[in-house]
Amino acid sequence: MREHTIAAIPADGIGPEVIDAGTRVLASLEKRMGDVRFHVETFDWGSDYYRKHGVMMPADGLETLRKFDAIYFGAVGAPDVPDHITLWGLRLPICQGFDQYANVRPTKILPGITPPLRNCGPGDLDWVIVRENSEGEYSGHGGRAHKGLPEEVGTEVAIFTRVGVTRIMRYAFTLAQSRPRKLLTVVTKSNAQRHGMVMWDEIAAEVAEEFPDVSWDKMLVDAMTVRMTLKPQSLDTIVATNLHADILSDLAGALAGSLGVAPTANIDPQRRFPSMFEPIHGSAFDITGKGIANPVATFWTAAQMLDHLGEQDASARLMRAVERVTGNGILTPDVGGTATTKEVTDAVIDAIHSSNV
Ligand code: IPM
Ligand code: MG
Repeated sequence: MREHTIAAIPADGIGPEVIDAGTRVLASLEKRMGDVRFHVETFDWGSDYYRKHGVMMPADGLETLRKFDAIYFGAVGAPDVPDHITLWGLRLPICQGFDQYANVRPTKILPGITPPLRNCGPGDLDWVIVRENSEGEYSGHGGRAHKGLPEEVGTEVAIFTRVGVTRIMRYAFTLAQSRPRKLLTVVTKSNAQRHGMVMWDEIAAEVAEEFPDVSWDKMLVDAMTVRMTLKPQSLDTIVATNLHADILSDLAGALAGSLGVAPTANIDPQRRFPSMFEPIHGSAFDITGKGIANPVATFWTAAQMLDHLGEQDASARLMRAVERVTGNGILTPDVGGTATTKEVTDAVIDAIHSSNV
């Protein structure tokens, strides 16, 4: 029996609803596969915890998480707690503390989902965005002086290091190499930003030498939005800075039909620390408690987690089950259906157990 320990942090908004759906699906995979066990322990960290204790997680939170094989994360964000507190109190300390420097965001048009672009169906848009996840515009460097005075200044410093850029570039080239098209697009803004971004371009060219079988090209981030929209078929693997990839991945989610299906993996490729898997959509207070949150992103990120844990068969089975269910039109309202979270989850569990999935 293979055993994996998973720390679940459902946190805020619809997080608990989708993580609950995800843990049910993991339990059904255990039954279906028979040779693997997932030991899920749930932590009550997040905005409620903050209201009680003044912090988003205990001071030794990272030490506690460190013992686990993976982290399954819901969403953070609450209407009455400033976003920078929820974010810098929980999610970013985990990403940065565990050096999860590769953020991997696959996008494709799932069967049964109608994307907003004309002439773009399943197969035309099949991308993986690799987001640098440890530095860049999210380095947290900067400050404010002369607060509230007319001469107030604020700086937000983006930090790019040779180590940071080289390792994300290698990760992206390796991923591109593992995909059938072996195609990588490197995104920067090196026309206007002439220091760190020019270094990105240089390092991309250096790392490319190690991957002669990968074709690669460069795009400026503004032009990239046009290419993603007008020529989605021309892209496969994409690598970009923390902020650029944040923005591009929202566009990717929208072009694939909904952010409700978009997953993300925060990976420490060196496996010194647990990696973290989460849906991209966030806490979604407008639909919290209504039972209609789309659990597909949380299932897809579970498939990423299973891959990372070496459970490729379970991962593939889960994705086939999800595609069967979306293809059958069992969809939540965000993707044009009328199903509830529970109905989608039950259908995925049925599909996991069916013999021809
Ligand atoms: C994402 C989100 C976060 C980010 C927010 C919640 C800070 O937009 O995961 O894409 O920008 O990293
Ligand atoms: Mg985002």
